[in-house]
Parts: sequence; structure tokens; C-alpha cells
Amino acid sequence: MSANIVTIMVVTILWLITIINGSYLPDDTRPNSQQEVIFNDDEESFLAKPPYLHSINQYFKQSTQDNEFEIEDNEDEEDELDDIISIEDINNISLKKPYTWQKVLDDIRNLNIQHGDKKSYKLFYLQRHGEGWHNYAMSKSYYNSSEWGCYWQLQSGDDVIEWEDALLTPLGIKQINNLRDQFDREELPFPNQFYVSPLRRTVKTWELMWKDKTDQKAIVKEFARESYGIGTESKRHDRKYLEDNFDFLTFENGFNDEDVLWTDKVHESKQHRNWRAQTLLIDIFQQLKQEEVDVISIVSHSGLISSILKVIGHKKWKLPTGSMIPVVIGIDWDKFGKVYKLSKPWKTMEDYCPIKN
Ligand SMILES: *[C@@H]1O[C@H](CO)[C@@H](O)[C@H](O)[C@H]1NC(C)=O
Ligand SMILES: *[C@@H]1O[C@H](CO)[C@@H](O)[C@H](O)[C@H]1NC(C)=O
Repeated sequence: MSANIVTIMVVTILWLITIINGSYLPDDTRPNSQQEVIFNDDEESFLAKPPYLHSINQYFKQSTQDNEFEIEDNEDEEDELDDIISIEDINNISLKKPYTWQKVLDDIRNLNIQHGDKKSYKLFYLQRHGEGWHNYAMSKSYYNSSEWGCYWQLQSGDDVIEWEDALLTPLGIKQINNLRDQFDREELPFPNQFYVSPLRRTVKTWELMWKDKTDQKAIVKEFARESYGIGTESKRHDRKYLEDNFDFLTFENGFNDEDVLWTDKVHESKQHRNWRAQTLLIDIFQQLKQEEVDVISIVSHSGLISSILKVIGHKKWKLPTGSMIPVVIGIDWDKFGKVYKLSKPWKTMEDYCPIKN
């Protein structure tokens, strides 16, 4: 064999060893939104021992103060219906005195330097989409909860409006314009990474909020979507539709062409959504391990955001449509977090109809 061939073989073998060891890209070694994840008690299983996530609560009013949107935490209670609140007046993104945004960023950077590879901290903007047509349709003055739960959520719309993979209402658009003005006025730190749910109401929200402010694309994350199934507002378009209509999107590795998660038979339970929120956060921290990214925007939904707040141990907070909550999230790779069991992952039509009170 010539020296050249030997060199190529050695390089190839070294490259394969790197991949097998997982030091190349962590994607294949971790669960993500595309893989069916099997939960077990295997000591070696990464998911059986997820890293510990937590929020740092000193900076923001939403993390500490009572407020009309605060809601009681009840482990076992399911949300009545996802995505229900819609009000005109958004609450402010409130920094507590004497903190400044610069101080928050400095603290995060210092913590990251101090803890090296063992822990990581980032500022997240968890942003809910503006009011969509489904929010409008299930508001009290339109269809009441029995009408919606038993019949209308299964339809793609009525004679007047459409809510399948709902678009934003004029109010929804106004809410996002207001939020964007507030963001500018209060000079919030600009995100250096953007994630978005694949549903149209979040994609449109992203477009209104961020598109003119950045050349970066929004990364579509399947696991940032709302609880899915039964209701047509939670069904997404296929990838080609998103690519053809929104040129500012890019897709996570392995993002499915079709919506393989939604079915008309079952709806995701809160338990499953909590697990999914935890998986999403770990996935984001994992992918950004080597990056200097400390401000992250996620444009998502009320249900998924309430699950994120839950899995980081933040106080419960109900976000009106078109609003945003800032949180500082830390991950400790050496400490084990809560395991979210998946014993009751799905709800059926009987859970909605008749609506139980
Ligand atoms: C939000 O902040 C603006 C000024 O930035 C203020 O005029 C307004 O009253 C605040 N709204 C609430 C609900 O605190
Ligand atoms: C919902 O609306 C229907 C039709 O108007 C009515 O018959 C029903 O009593 C209402 N249900 C509730 C819970 O308000």
C-alpha cells in the first residue's frame, strides 16, 4: 500500500472513532423531537437521569410578584383548554429595581465563566404568539366551552373564520406591534439565537417581532409547538409549505416533512408536555454548549411555556396572547433533575366533551 492510502485509512478510522465517541455532534446520542423516546429505569439512560434545570428568580417581577395573571399550581389538574386567554393590554416585561439589563447579562456571563463546563446560564425570552383565530373562536362571546370542546375544535373553521393552524387576528397583530415597541423602548438585550414553534401563529408572530431586526433565521423546533391532537388549531402545515411561505425559517436537524405528531384521536396531556418542555430545553442547552450565546428567544404557546416554567421551577404564570416573559435558566449537567413519567400521555375526546367543571 502506498503511504497515501495508509494516511487516508488512518484519518478515516480516527474520524469514525470521534463520531462513535459522540464528541463530534451530540445529536444522534440524544433524544430529539424526531425520535420515539422509550422511557425506562436503565441507569445508563440519559433520559432516565436528565440534567437539572432551574430558574434564577431575583431579577423579574414575574418571578416573584403577585399579579392578576398568576395562577395556582396544581400538579394533577389538566388545563381546561390550551391557549385560552386573550386580552388587549399586555403586561410589561418587568425588571425589578435595582437591576438593569446590563447587570443581568453581567451576572450570567460571570456565572458561566465561574462554572465552566459544569453549569450553564442563559436569559430566555419566552414569547407567546399574538391572538389567533382559534383564541377568538373559543372566547366566551363566540363559541362556549361545550360547543368548542365537543364540536368546533374538530372543524377547520366555520362560515366566517378559519382556525386550522390558525393565523393571527388583527388584534393579534396589534399585540405583537406593541410588544416590539416595548422591546425597543426598554432596550432589552437582543437575542443571539431564535427558536420558533412550527405553527403559523408563532411563525407570523416571529416575523412581525424579529424579522426586520435581524439577518438571523429562526430555527423551527418541533418540540416548541403547542399541545397537539384533536383540535385542528394544533395541526401544523408540512415543511414545504413553511419553506415556500416563510423564507426566514431554518429547520432543526431531522425536522419531519409531515406533521407526524398530530392525530384526530388523542390530545397530548400536560404530563407529556412537561416532559417535552424539559427535553426541548436540554436539547437547546446541549446544542449551544460550545457557543457564546446567552440571550435566547423562543416564540411558542401558552401551554408549552407554562410547562417550561414548571420544569425550571418558576412560579406559574399565565401569559396573555402577544406577551412575553423573561427568565434566567440554568442547567447543571452533574446534578439530576426530575424525571417526568409518561404514564398518562394522552387525553381523549371524553376529556373535553362534556366539559367537566
Ligand atoms: C408599561 O410600561 C409603559 C412605559 O414603558 C407604561 O406607560 C405602562 O403604564 C406600563 N404598563 C403596565 C401594565 O405596567
Ligand atoms: C353553549 O351554547 C349552546 C348554544 O347556544 C347552549 O345550548 C349551551 O347551553 C351553552 N353551554 C354553556 C355551558 O354555556
